[in-house]
Amino acid sequence: MDRKRAIEHFLHYLPHHPAIGGRSPASILIGHTQAYANLVGHLIESSASSAGLVFQAMDLDDTPTERLAAAIVEADLYIFFYDASTLPNPRAEGPSFIRALQPVISEHWKKSLLFKDYGDFFYDTFSVAPARIADLNAALIDRMSQGEVLSFTDPHGSHFEASLRDMKKWTNINGVGNYDLAPGEIATHSETINGHVRFVGTFLGTIPFARKYGVLETPLEMWIENSTISRIATEVPGLEQDFNKYLDANPSNRRIEELGIGTNEGVKHLYARNAGFEERHCGLHLGLGGGAKGSHHLDLIFDSGTLAVDDQVVFSDRSGYLV
Ligand SMILES: [Fe+2]
Repeated sequence: MDRKRAIEHFLHYLPHHPAIGGRSPASILIGHTQAYANLVGHLIESSASSAGLVFQAMDLDDTPTERLAAAIVEADLYIFFYDASTLPNPRAEGPSFIRALQPVISEHWKKSLLFKDYGDFFYDTFSVAPARIADLNAALIDRMSQGEVLSFTDPHGSHFEASLRDMKKWTNINGVGNYDLAPGEIATHSETINGHVRFVGTFLGTIPFARKYGVLETPLEMWIENSTISRIATEVPGLEQDFNKYLDANPSNRRIEELGIGTNEGVKHLYARNAGFEERHCGLHLGLGGGAKGSHHLDLIFDSGTLAVDDQVVFSDRSGYLV
């Protein structure tokens, strides 16, 4: 892994964040726990050549909440590196400094970059050349906009189709100008997903399915009618009950609100860390919930499968992208 290159790529994207928008000089607060001290050290060292970015680092565990809060308010952008879901005894609300800072974090979310539970996978996430991701995303969006039907199949027996004509505009997450800097995804919303999937992969969301169930090896079966999950079945102990509880909690949780396609070839596997970068894993993910108040967004990230536009394969986990 070329850590130096990954940090260069990260520093390439950073000035394009909407909160900075090319402004120079820009003041950037980096809050981190001890586990990320090395990474932050490298980042600040490497940034010496990026004129215009002025960094200030603070230890999230040792710095008083008031000082951190004031620094957040003052900064043009603040970046946090910390672990929550991967801690030995995780809490739903996150570590104590996150709970203490929640009001100021919510108020200033537009200038936040939270790298939660990334660990050393930060370097994988930024390992791919920015031009490769930009080209791949553009080529895929182009293919999607010219096609009629998107289909998904996988070795476990999944199959669904969606009309490309009725889809919303694709969001292009290539790291340039996105609120979430982790590059490598295109995403949209479709009302016409119909089929039956035998989901094998991992979860990402505020409800910690990923930490409880890891990377599923036994499928979670789902019947999908017009982008709504009508019924599920699985032999994974406990999962059927847990998942039905989630689906029943809010009508939006049953809706596929997001059809996402990861394009980051640096994310090699799924790890069930409940970390944002896993959504960039190449191939399909479906995001449930998040479309209505009180619902919870939960991504189902597929481990394998084939995506085709009008029966022409554009991605398979064996051969990668073919656009
Ligand atoms: Fe997504």
